[in-house]
Amino acid sequence: MARDDISREAGRLGRRLAGLGRISDERGRLTRTFLSPAMRRANARVGRWMRAAGLAVREDAVGNLIGRSEAAGRTLLLGSHLDTVRDAGRFDGALGVLLPLSALAVLRARGARLPFAVEVLGFAEEEGVRFASAYLGSKGYCGRLAAADLARKDARGVSLRQVLGRGFRRPGAAHRRGELLGYVEAHIEQGPVLEAARRPLGVVAAIAGQTRGRIVFRGRAGHAGTTPMGLRRDALAGAAEFILAAEALARGTPGLVATVGTIAAAPGAANVIPAEAACSLDLRHARDPVRRRALRRLLGRARRIARRRRLGFGWTRTQDDAAVACDPRLTGRLARSVRAVQGGAPRLVSGAGHDAVIVSALTPAAMLFVRCRGGLSHHPDEHAAPADLEAALRALVHFLEGLAADGGR
Ligand code: HGY
Ligand code: MN
Ligand code: MN
Repeated sequence: MARDDISREAGRLGRRLAGLGRISDERGRLTRTFLSPAMRRANARVGRWMRAAGLAVREDAVGNLIGRSEAAGRTLLLGSHLDTVRDAGRFDGALGVLLPLSALAVLRARGARLPFAVEVLGFAEEEGVRFASAYLGSKGYCGRLAAADLARKDARGVSLRQVLGRGFRRPGAAHRRGELLGYVEAHIEQGPVLEAARRPLGVVAAIAGQTRGRIVFRGRAGHAGTTPMGLRRDALAGAAEFILAAEALARGTPGLVATVGTIAAAPGAANVIPAEAACSLDLRHARDPVRRRALRRLLGRARRIARRRRLGFGWTRTQDDAAVACDPRLTGRLARSVRAVQGGAPRLVSGAGHDAVIVSALTPAAMLFVRCRGGLSHHPDEHAAPADLEAALRALVHFLEGLAADGGR
């Protein structure tokens, strides 16, 4: 079949994702964290592509990259995040920033003029890797950055305020609600549903709520060879018991996921009983009451473990975002475009968090999901097939043309 304009542009999209996926803070693997040198290089690269698509480009005070095409009337927001987890795949976030640029390039080449303004957003920080709290980029853009966020410190003890500079003032929202048409975020599904349904695309009905925090058990260091087992206050053994309790609770609660992704023991020597063990907790569920009840149960279990083992215990919540329903009207319009491309339009609940969680408080939000191989993500083997990228591009072009035909209403 001859390659049409969208097929050719989808090929360029795939090449750009590969190129952007090589801009990293670490050799041999993809890691781009908030305001890092690699993030600055990524913003420069994507900024060039934005200008090539005819957008006016700026960076806001938080480091978000914003490409705007001017027009009378309200503004449609399209975007996602440019930061990544450690040893990441090249599609998570980046796809949602580059796909709109490709869609605008197709429309521009067709001579189409949209009757509404468009802002393509590359958020500076969504994953929460550097400061243990997610969405700092979209929170900055939506005027929801809290004073407590500025006090958060990274692993080297540097605060967000120090990174943003003494003159930094927490910004208000970049737009008033009435100025906006809505927000559409394209993202890989990061799960197995579309692959099982044999569909390249889906739309998101809701995004699960999530709680993240830090658990600390404190015991007493001692000699590994001379301290009898019954006399120990081993903080790491306490943390280990907690981790297995969290896993057991999640396995036993339908729809709940609990993850301990990081752990650190001190003083950190093989022949010293650990005096302190600090671990992260990531707890998610589509229904907030279930997640909150699970958190209460887990913290109660942690306290009982600490008491029985004569350990100190501490819990610091670093993030708590309620589940968010995507806007039914905008999602319905997006689903029509998905159906135009592939027939059906599966509706999914996202277990992963997205910037749409934050932006949905400012304007109606919808999400386009793209199938990824094996549902794998937050992994270098994360992969979206070229045919699925092309399907996503067809759907977004169809969506924008439809919105234009309706005069942006
Ligand atoms: O962790 C998440 O849910 C997303 O990848 N930020
Ligand atoms: Mn993401
Ligand atoms: Mn992610």
